[in-house]
Amino acid sequence: MPYIANRVGAGEEGVFCLLQNWIAQARKDGKEIINLGVGSPNRRPENPILQELLESAKEDKSYEYPFIDPKLPEAIADWYKDRFGVSLEPENQVLPLWGSQEGFAHFPLVTMEQEDLCILPDPGYPIYHYMPNMVDGHSWNLPLEEKNGFMPDFSGVPEDVAQKARFLVLNYPNNPLGVGATLDVLEDAVKFCKKHDIWLIYDNAYCELAFDGFRPPSVLEVEGALDVAVEVNSFSKTFNMAGMRIGFVVGNERFVKALGRLKGNIDYGLFMPVQKAAIKALTHPDRDAIIARTRQMYQDRRDAFIQSAAEKGWEVIPPMGSMFIWTKVPNCDDDVSFVEFCIRETGVVVTPGRAFGEKGRGYVRIALVREPEVLAEAASRIAEALGKWACARV
Ligand SMILES: Cc1ncc(COP(=O)(O)O)c(C=O)c1O
Repeated sequence: MPYIANRVGAGEEGVFCLLQNWIAQARKDGKEIINLGVGSPNRRPENPILQELLESAKEDKSYEYPFIDPKLPEAIADWYKDRFGVSLEPENQVLPLWGSQEGFAHFPLVTMEQEDLCILPDPGYPIYHYMPNMVDGHSWNLPLEEKNGFMPDFSGVPEDVAQKARFLVLNYPNNPLGVGATLDVLEDAVKFCKKHDIWLIYDNAYCELAFDGFRPPSVLEVEGALDVAVEVNSFSKTFNMAGMRIGFVVGNERFVKALGRLKGNIDYGLFMPVQKAAIKALTHPDRDAIIARTRQMYQDRRDAFIQSAAEKGWEVIPPMGSMFIWTKVPNCDDDVSFVEFCIRETGVVVTPGRAFGEKGRGYVRIALVREPEVLAEAASRIAEALGKWACARV
């Protein structure tokens, strides 16, 4: 058989195969499934964005190879100025991506050689843990522990790791943890990366999904951050545009230009109607109102879940941001068997914490991807079933 490279991995993870089997069995047993496993928005973008997409899709020239419309980096830079007070040069410090996931997959190609090392958060968004594979490199996991409020503790990074690493990835508001970071945490991260001369790749995909008045900062607000940092952001959650695949990276010019050179050999930019829709999202006079409605939507969903759980005696800590609830498995560290139990007994699908790294063991992630009444029903079903939960390992 012709060869497939090891770096691709063996295929679907064991846990996810198990999940599919359990869901199929629960369906057979007549359970109505509520799938809160995947963090995919369940609404379409607001009308002005959609309208722009449709209009642009009617034009012949939208079907030529696309270039990056300079209005897009300009709109991104203007938004960063308004939202974070950060000044960016659109032509040098802003690069649109096919979604931030594409950026993460390609960052190692511009920052690491074979066998090099990077520092990744544990738990963390799964693509991060795939990054070193892209260059046959290695990673060191930076534990995000509940006792530290899920914030990084740089004093625990061994000196040889810090010396060898090419980049550090951080993400707040965090998927899967739901916690947000204040500027002082980002200042420490910049200081750490400057001291060791490594890149800081900051994932701010949930900067607009933060609740109870919390306004997540940009890492680029930290003085001097531009020397070592880039920030990744996305239209997926802020504007319900996940299916359109558009995001961006902003920050250090050398990094952005190197990635631009690499991408010049991979893609021709993004489908023009998607670019136009993104420009509309950022420049529309109702932009902030659109964002505020999305934020409120997730806050209402969060509250519906938490309140319904509390009414049935299940205490769940409310997330500060993101679109996820992260909660400890009651009296047990076996998150996988708890997920099997939830699906079998209640039809509610959640994700086992270990899918996000070893430090996720003993937790589950609940994605707020249904309307409030459905989430309240899901919380109530799980809370009612907890009396039967006996931590049986599968
Ligand atoms: C933390 C985090 N970063 C990035 C992404 C990917 O976003 P995009 O749709 O822009 O690829 C996600 C998607 O769920 C995410 O949770």
